[in-house]
Amino acid sequence: MDITVVGAGYVGLVSAACFADFGHSVTCVDTDSTKVENLKIGTIPIFEPGLDDLVTRNISADRLRFTTNLKAAVKGASVIFIAVGTPSRRGDGHADLSYVYQAARDIAGTVEGYTIIVLKSTVPVGTGDEVESIIRSARPDLQFSVVSNPEFLREGAAIGDFKRPDRIVIGTEEERARDVMSEVYRPLFLNQSPIFFTERRTSELIKYASNAFLAVKITFINEIADLCELADANVQDVARGMGLDNRIGQKFLHAGPGYGGSCFPKDTAALVKTAQDYGGALRIVETAAAVNDQRKRAMARKVIAACGGSVKGKTIGLLGLTFKPNTDDMRDAPSIAIVQALLDAGATVNVTDPIGMAQAQGVISGVTFYPDAYTCADNASALVLVTEWDAYRALDFPRLRELMHLPILVDLRNVYRAAEIERHGFIYNSVGHKP
Ligand code: UGA
Repeated sequence: MDITVVGAGYVGLVSAACFADFGHSVTCVDTDSTKVENLKIGTIPIFEPGLDDLVTRNISADRLRFTTNLKAAVKGASVIFIAVGTPSRRGDGHADLSYVYQAARDIAGTVEGYTIIVLKSTVPVGTGDEVESIIRSARPDLQFSVVSNPEFLREGAAIGDFKRPDRIVIGTEEERARDVMSEVYRPLFLNQSPIFFTERRTSELIKYASNAFLAVKITFINEIADLCELADANVQDVARGMGLDNRIGQKFLHAGPGYGGSCFPKDTAALVKTAQDYGGALRIVETAAAVNDQRKRAMARKVIAACGGSVKGKTIGLLGLTFKPNTDDMRDAPSIAIVQALLDAGATVNVTDPIGMAQAQGVISGVTFYPDAYTCADNASALVLVTEWDAYRALDFPRLRELMHLPILVDLRNVYRAAEIERHGFIYNSVGHKP
């Protein structure tokens, strides 16, 4: 099947590479000519495990092409995925749909014959209706369907999530579009991945509701963690004990420094706005977003408390800067607020990250960047584990102890257990356990 993917960002690129790997013939189009030239020779603009191999393999097999020429790319395609960005609109938190609508106008000017236009970008309920009317007014005689097919992949695990999804959601009221979309995803049905057909507007809302629910779940366990610290209980055991109930489930109950990334902060804000637009309210989501925002700086206060109430003139080392491991993405990373609060409190801040240093240098200033945990720990009065990269899961504590001014570890991801750290002479603080 001939597929075109508009947008070579995170979702577009992963989708294009995976569809090509299923055996489809895929053209991925982007306006950024440097990005496209790099992709043609297999140079990937983001860090995502396995993606470079997948792209290179499918370019060599002539199943995957990159271009800046949208007209040529959409001509003859049976299915066109719109996977452009929908960032937060400055000022009001709404999703900015200008790239989606521009893509719809560009597509409308060019396509021939029955075409399915699929919205894979995360878009508010009703966007499909708007895209349909843009295309309909440009091409009154064109036969086409606009389908919603949200993406649920996680950064750092994107290929696995795409190829072995918990579910595929397809929103359309049209039988013909259902049949074609079933063909697109046929390799996954053979893996028995559940496919869920629903109406287009409902499908659009499923994506936001899912992300908002996960954001609330994380925020809930983070507040329980705070209570555990006050009440001398263990949040990891609370989460495990809760999660054994199938209705609750084990996942997304890891307490930490608050969620970040390109999705949860933006999508919760957009969903709250959508609810307001319709005259409703999503108070739980609104509160979770506010609580999560405050939590990031609260983590710096936790570090200050672990250092005896002041970090003025002290050196603090941060391990991990990206919003989670296996990505170089710094968008809304908790590290940004933690660094700022420590600098405001008068600390000297050393930082390191296995992959995200270049991105971090664009958003964090006033700190010194080090190549690894040990150079970062040199002369530090405390180390703070912010992102749970594998490189920080088996630290050499005797070595760190010798390097550090004071042996204090604040583990914001609960990677270690108190007993194993304390036997090396460290003072250990974590999340959701009595300090
Ligand atoms: C999230 C969703 O998980 C995906 O299903 C969705 O497709 C994606 O957004 C999107 O809309 O594009 P992602 O932002 O890549 O994926 O990362 P997650 O693994 O969900 O983590 C988000 C944040 O929550 C991270 O900061 C992570 O550290 C934090 N988190 C996650 C916790 O603090 N505790 C947990 O138990 C889980």
